[in-house]
Amino acid sequence: TTKIIMDTDPGIDDAAALTMAINDPAIDLKLVTAVAGNVTVDKTTANALKIIHFFSKDIPVAAGAEQPLIKPFEDAARIHGESGMPGYDFGNDYGKPIDKTAVEALHDTIMAEDEVILVPTGSYTNIALLFSEYPEVKSHIKKIVAMGGSVSGGNMTSAAEFNVFTDPDAARIMYNSGIPIVMVGLDVTLKALLTKDTIEKLGQMNKTGEMLHALITHYNDGSDEGRPMHDVNTIFYLLHPEAFTTKKMWVDVQTAGPAIGATVADIRGAYHDGKTNADVCLDIDANYFNQWFLDEVSKMN
Ligand code: BDR
Ligand code: CA
Repeated sequence: TTKIIMDTDPGIDDAAALTMAINDPAIDLKLVTAVAGNVTVDKTTANALKIIHFFSKDIPVAAGAEQPLIKPFEDAARIHGESGMPGYDFGNDYGKPIDKTAVEALHDTIMAEDEVILVPTGSYTNIALLFSEYPEVKSHIKKIVAMGGSVSGGNMTSAAEFNVFTDPDAARIMYNSGIPIVMVGLDVTLKALLTKDTIEKLGQMNKTGEMLHALITHYNDGSDEGRPMHDVNTIFYLLHPEAFTTKKMWVDVQTAGPAIGATVADIRGAYHDGKTNADVCLDIDANYFNQWFLDEVSKMN
Protein backbone atom coordinates (compact mmCIF):
# COMPACT_ATOMS: atom_id res chain seq x y z
CA THR A 1 0.00 0.00 0.00
CA THR A 2 0.96 3.63 -0.51
CA LYS A 3 1.39 5.58 2.71
CA ILE A 4 0.14 9.13 2.41
CA ILE A 5 -0.59 12.24 4.45
CA MET A 6 -3.22 14.64 3.12
CA ASP A 7 -2.94 18.36 3.81
CA THR A 8 -6.28 19.75 2.83
CA ASP A 9 -8.90 22.55 2.92
CA PRO A 10 -12.31 20.86 2.44
CA GLY A 11 -13.86 22.15 0.22
CA ILE A 12 -16.06 19.97 -1.97
CA ASP A 13 -13.37 18.45 -4.19
CA ASP A 14 -11.12 17.97 -1.13
CA ALA A 15 -13.99 16.05 0.48
CA ALA A 16 -14.20 13.80 -2.57
CA ALA A 17 -10.40 13.29 -2.56
CA LEU A 18 -10.56 12.32 1.12
CA THR A 19 -13.40 9.92 0.31
CA MET A 20 -11.22 8.08 -2.21
CA ALA A 21 -8.10 8.10 -0.01
CA ILE A 22 -10.00 6.80 3.03
CA ASN A 23 -11.67 3.96 1.17
CA ASP A 24 -9.23 2.67 -1.43
CA PRO A 25 -7.40 -0.33 0.03
CA ALA A 26 -4.22 0.50 -1.92
CA ILE A 27 -3.88 3.72 0.07
CA ASP A 28 -2.93 3.97 3.72
CA LEU A 29 -3.96 7.43 4.93
CA LYS A 30 -1.88 8.10 8.06
CA LEU A 31 -2.80 11.67 8.91
CA VAL A 32 -4.93 14.56 7.70
CA THR A 33 -3.84 18.13 8.34
CA ALA A 34 -6.09 21.09 7.65
CA VAL A 35 -5.20 24.52 6.32
CA ALA A 36 -7.10 27.74 5.67
CA GLY A 37 -8.11 27.97 2.02
CA ASN A 38 -11.55 27.36 0.61
CA VAL A 39 -12.91 28.42 4.03
CA THR A 40 -11.31 29.24 7.40
CA VAL A 41 -9.21 26.60 9.14
CA ASP A 42 -11.72 25.91 11.91
CA LYS A 43 -14.19 24.95 9.16
CA THR A 44 -11.71 22.95 7.04
CA THR A 45 -10.65 21.03 10.17
CA ALA A 46 -14.29 20.27 11.07
CA ASN A 47 -15.01 19.25 7.47
CA ALA A 48 -12.09 16.80 7.36
CA LEU A 49 -13.37 15.28 10.63
CA LYS A 50 -16.90 15.05 9.20
CA ILE A 51 -15.77 13.04 6.18
CA ILE A 52 -13.67 10.66 8.29
CA HIS A 53 -16.56 10.24 10.72
CA PHE A 54 -18.97 9.61 7.82
CA PHE A 55 -16.93 6.50 7.01
CA SER A 56 -16.55 5.57 10.71
CA LYS A 57 -12.76 5.69 10.45
CA ASP A 58 -10.24 6.68 13.04
CA ILE A 59 -7.69 8.82 11.20
CA PRO A 60 -6.07 11.68 13.13
CA VAL A 61 -6.82 15.24 12.01
CA ALA A 62 -4.64 18.17 13.06
CA ALA A 63 -5.54 21.83 12.62
CA GLY A 64 -2.99 23.99 10.82
CA ALA A 65 -2.33 27.51 9.63
CA GLU A 66 -5.05 30.12 9.94
CA GLN A 67 -3.57 32.29 7.25
CA PRO A 68 -0.95 32.35 4.52
CA LEU A 69 2.71 33.18 5.35
CA ILE A 70 2.56 36.77 4.08
CA LYS A 71 -0.39 37.43 1.77
CA PRO A 72 -3.73 38.33 3.40
CA PHE A 73 -6.19 35.43 3.52
CA GLU A 74 -9.03 35.29 0.98
CA ASP A 75 -11.42 32.34 1.05
CA ALA A 76 -13.34 30.68 -1.80
CA ALA A 77 -16.74 30.44 -0.09
CA ARG A 78 -18.35 31.70 -3.30
CA ILE A 79 -17.31 28.36 -4.87
CA HIS A 80 -17.60 25.96 -1.91
CA GLY A 81 -20.34 27.64 0.18
CA GLU A 82 -20.05 29.26 3.61
CA SER A 83 -19.46 25.93 5.36
CA GLY A 84 -17.14 24.55 2.66
CA MET A 85 -19.28 21.40 2.36
CA PRO A 86 -22.87 22.55 1.66
CA GLY A 87 -25.93 20.47 0.86
CA TYR A 88 -25.44 17.51 3.20
CA ASP A 89 -26.11 17.20 6.94
CA PHE A 90 -23.13 15.50 8.58
CA GLY A 91 -24.57 16.00 12.09
CA ASN A 92 -22.76 17.45 15.07
CA ASP A 93 -21.03 14.37 16.39
CA TYR A 94 -17.80 14.13 14.40
CA GLY A 95 -15.08 14.25 17.01
CA LYS A 96 -12.20 16.61 17.54
CA PRO A 97 -8.79 17.33 16.08
CA ILE A 98 -5.79 15.88 17.91
CA ASP A 99 -3.94 17.92 20.46
CA LYS A 100 -1.02 18.79 18.18
CA THR A 101 -0.60 21.49 15.59
CA ALA A 102 -0.46 20.40 11.94
CA VAL A 103 3.29 21.11 11.87
CA GLU A 104 3.94 18.94 14.96
CA ALA A 105 1.71 16.15 13.67
CA LEU A 106 3.35 16.26 10.21
CA HIS A 107 6.80 16.12 11.79
CA ASP A 108 5.97 13.21 14.09
CA THR A 109 4.21 11.16 11.43
CA ILE A 110 6.84 11.73 8.74
CA MET A 111 9.67 10.80 11.12
CA ALA A 112 7.82 7.68 12.30
CA GLU A 113 6.87 6.44 8.81
CA ASP A 114 9.38 5.67 6.14
CA GLU A 115 8.68 6.67 2.54
CA VAL A 116 5.52 8.65 3.11
CA ILE A 117 4.00 10.66 0.25
CA LEU A 118 2.62 14.11 1.04
CA VAL A 119 -0.58 15.02 -0.79
CA PRO A 120 -1.47 18.71 -0.43
CA THR A 121 -4.81 19.73 -1.87
CA GLY A 122 -4.98 23.20 -0.32
CA SER A 123 -2.43 25.99 -0.17
CA TYR A 124 1.00 24.88 1.01
CA THR A 125 1.29 26.99 4.20
CA ASN A 126 1.55 24.05 6.63
CA ILE A 127 4.21 22.44 4.46
CA ALA A 128 6.32 25.60 4.23
CA LEU A 129 6.09 26.07 8.01
CA LEU A 130 7.07 22.42 8.51
CA PHE A 131 10.15 22.75 6.28
CA SER A 132 11.40 25.87 8.01
CA GLU A 133 10.86 24.47 11.50
CA TYR A 134 11.99 20.88 10.85
CA PRO A 135 14.18 20.74 7.71
CA GLU A 136 15.21 17.20 8.68
CA VAL A 137 11.80 15.87 7.58
CA LYS A 138 12.67 16.56 3.93
CA SER A 139 14.84 13.46 3.52
CA HIS A 140 12.02 11.30 4.94
CA ILE A 141 9.40 12.34 2.39
CA LYS A 142 9.30 10.15 -0.71
CA LYS A 143 7.60 12.75 -2.87
CA ILE A 144 4.88 15.38 -2.93
CA VAL A 145 1.84 14.94 -5.16
CA ALA A 146 0.27 18.38 -5.05
CA MET A 147 -2.90 19.79 -6.55
CA GLY A 148 -2.17 23.31 -7.68
CA GLY A 149 -0.59 25.48 -10.31
CA SER A 150 -0.92 25.49 -14.07
CA VAL A 151 1.18 25.97 -17.16
CA SER A 152 -1.85 27.12 -19.14
CA GLY A 153 -3.42 30.01 -17.21
CA GLY A 154 -5.20 30.29 -13.89
CA ASN A 155 -8.63 30.06 -12.31
CA MET A 156 -8.14 32.92 -9.81
CA THR A 157 -6.38 35.40 -12.03
CA SER A 158 -5.49 34.82 -15.66
CA ALA A 159 -2.11 33.60 -14.41
CA ALA A 160 -2.71 31.95 -11.03
CA GLU A 161 -4.44 28.83 -9.76
CA PHE A 162 -6.24 29.14 -6.37
CA ASN A 163 -3.99 27.02 -4.08
CA VAL A 164 -0.81 28.71 -5.27
CA PHE A 165 -2.47 32.13 -5.43
CA THR A 166 -3.64 31.77 -1.81
CA ASP A 167 -0.09 31.36 -0.49
CA PRO A 168 2.51 31.93 -3.22
CA ASP A 169 5.35 32.30 -0.69
CA ALA A 170 4.62 28.86 0.71
CA ALA A 171 4.40 27.41 -2.80
CA ARG A 172 7.80 28.89 -3.64
CA ILE A 173 9.32 27.24 -0.55
CA MET A 174 7.76 23.89 -1.44
CA TYR A 175 8.93 23.97 -5.07
CA ASN A 176 12.46 24.87 -3.99
CA SER A 177 12.61 22.24 -1.21
CA GLY A 178 14.52 19.64 -3.21
CA ILE A 179 11.75 17.05 -2.74
CA PRO A 180 10.44 15.58 -6.01
CA ILE A 181 7.04 17.08 -6.80
CA VAL A 182 4.25 15.91 -9.05
CA MET A 183 2.32 18.99 -10.10
CA VAL A 184 -1.33 18.06 -10.59
CA GLY A 185 -2.58 21.39 -11.87
CA LEU A 186 -5.37 22.90 -13.92
CA ASP A 187 -3.75 21.52 -17.09
CA VAL A 188 -5.31 18.18 -16.15
CA THR A 189 -8.02 18.97 -13.60
CA LEU A 190 -9.96 21.17 -16.04
CA LYS A 191 -9.82 18.38 -18.65
CA ALA A 192 -11.08 15.63 -16.33
CA LEU A 193 -14.52 17.10 -15.70
CA LEU A 194 -16.98 14.89 -13.88
CA THR A 195 -19.75 14.73 -16.48
CA LYS A 196 -23.42 15.42 -15.87
CA ASP A 197 -24.08 11.74 -16.49
CA THR A 198 -21.48 10.64 -13.90
CA ILE A 199 -22.92 13.05 -11.35
CA GLU A 200 -26.45 11.72 -11.94
CA LYS A 201 -25.25 8.14 -11.51
CA LEU A 202 -23.55 9.02 -8.22
CA GLY A 203 -26.85 10.25 -6.81
CA GLN A 204 -28.42 6.83 -7.39
CA MET A 205 -25.60 4.63 -6.24
CA ASN A 206 -25.42 4.36 -2.45
CA LYS A 207 -25.08 6.51 0.68
CA THR A 208 -21.60 7.76 -0.28
CA GLY A 209 -22.80 8.57 -3.79
CA GLU A 210 -25.73 10.52 -2.36
CA MET A 211 -23.42 12.50 -0.10
CA LEU A 212 -21.02 13.35 -2.94
CA HIS A 213 -23.93 14.13 -5.26
CA ALA A 214 -25.35 16.57 -2.69
CA LEU A 215 -22.01 18.36 -2.30
CA ILE A 216 -21.28 18.45 -6.02
CA THR A 217 -24.68 19.90 -6.88
CA HIS A 218 -23.81 22.79 -4.50
CA TYR A 219 -20.40 23.31 -6.12
CA ASN A 220 -20.00 26.59 -7.95
CA ASP A 221 -17.14 25.48 -10.19
CA GLY A 222 -17.41 24.31 -13.78
CA SER A 223 -20.63 24.38 -15.78
CA ASP A 224 -23.54 22.16 -16.72
CA GLU A 225 -21.16 20.33 -18.98
CA GLY A 226 -19.18 19.07 -16.02
CA ARG A 227 -17.51 19.82 -12.70
CA PRO A 228 -13.74 19.85 -12.11
CA MET A 229 -12.90 17.64 -9.12
CA HIS A 230 -9.41 19.15 -8.96
CA ASP A 231 -8.14 17.51 -5.75
CA VAL A 232 -9.37 14.03 -6.64
CA ASN A 233 -6.86 13.99 -9.48
CA THR A 234 -4.02 13.58 -6.93
CA ILE A 235 -5.47 10.30 -5.66
CA PHE A 236 -6.23 9.15 -9.21
CA TYR A 237 -2.59 9.89 -10.08
CA LEU A 238 -1.31 7.84 -7.12
CA LEU A 239 -3.42 4.86 -8.18
CA HIS A 240 -3.31 5.24 -11.97
CA PRO A 241 -0.29 7.24 -13.13
CA GLU A 242 -0.69 5.60 -16.56
CA ALA A 243 -3.77 7.79 -17.13
CA PHE A 244 -1.55 10.91 -17.14
CA THR A 245 0.96 12.43 -19.52
CA THR A 246 3.69 14.19 -17.55
CA LYS A 247 6.83 16.15 -18.33
CA LYS A 248 9.78 16.90 -16.07
CA MET A 249 10.37 20.64 -15.76
CA TRP A 250 11.78 23.25 -13.45
CA VAL A 251 8.88 25.02 -11.75
CA ASP A 252 9.13 28.19 -9.71
CA VAL A 253 6.49 30.53 -8.34
CA GLN A 254 5.77 34.20 -8.85
CA THR A 255 5.37 35.83 -5.40
CA ALA A 256 4.62 39.44 -6.37
CA GLY A 257 3.25 41.60 -9.16
CA PRO A 258 0.36 41.10 -11.54
CA ALA A 259 1.17 37.39 -12.02
CA ILE A 260 1.40 36.68 -8.28
CA GLY A 261 0.69 33.01 -7.65
CA ALA A 262 1.60 31.86 -11.16
CA THR A 263 3.68 28.71 -11.50
CA VAL A 264 6.45 29.42 -13.98
CA ALA A 265 7.59 26.25 -15.73
CA ASP A 266 10.74 26.14 -17.82
CA ILE A 267 9.27 24.27 -20.78
CA ARG A 268 12.56 24.56 -22.68
CA GLY A 269 14.67 22.99 -19.91
CA ALA A 270 17.34 25.49 -20.87
CA TYR A 271 18.02 27.91 -18.02
CA HIS A 272 18.39 25.27 -15.30
CA ASP A 273 20.85 23.14 -17.27
CA GLY A 274 18.35 20.34 -17.63
CA LYS A 275 17.74 20.16 -13.86
CA THR A 276 14.10 19.66 -12.94
CA ASN A 277 12.15 19.79 -9.67
CA ALA A 278 8.72 18.67 -10.81
CA ASP A 279 6.89 16.17 -12.92
CA VAL A 280 4.17 18.33 -14.42
CA CYS A 281 0.89 16.65 -15.40
CA LEU A 282 -0.05 17.88 -18.87
CA ASP A 283 -2.77 15.52 -20.04
CA ILE A 284 -5.23 13.02 -18.60
CA ASP A 285 -7.66 10.37 -19.79
CA ALA A 286 -10.92 12.05 -18.79
CA ASN A 287 -13.15 9.04 -19.58
CA TYR A 288 -10.99 6.81 -17.44
CA PHE A 289 -11.25 9.36 -14.61
CA ASN A 290 -15.06 9.29 -14.78
CA GLN A 291 -15.18 5.49 -14.92
CA TRP A 292 -12.73 5.14 -12.04
CA PHE A 293 -14.65 7.67 -9.93
CA LEU A 294 -17.92 5.72 -10.31
CA ASP A 295 -16.18 2.43 -9.79
CA GLU A 296 -14.58 3.58 -6.52
CA VAL A 297 -17.84 4.94 -5.12
CA SER A 298 -19.75 1.80 -6.17
CA LYS A 299 -17.52 -0.23 -3.82
CA MET A 300 -18.43 2.00 -0.85
CA ASN A 301 -21.56 1.92 1.31
C1 BDR B 1 -8.19 24.25 -6.01
O1 BDR B 1 -8.79 25.36 -5.37
C2 BDR B 1 -9.71 24.92 -4.42
O2 BDR B 1 -10.85 25.73 -4.42
C3 BDR B 1 -10.03 23.48 -4.75
O3 BDR B 1 -10.36 22.76 -3.57
C4 BDR B 1 -8.75 22.99 -5.36
O4 BDR B 1 -7.85 22.54 -4.36
C5 BDR B 1 -8.43 24.34 -7.49
O5 BDR B 1 -7.85 25.49 -8.02
CA1 CA C 1 -8.58 22.11 -2.13
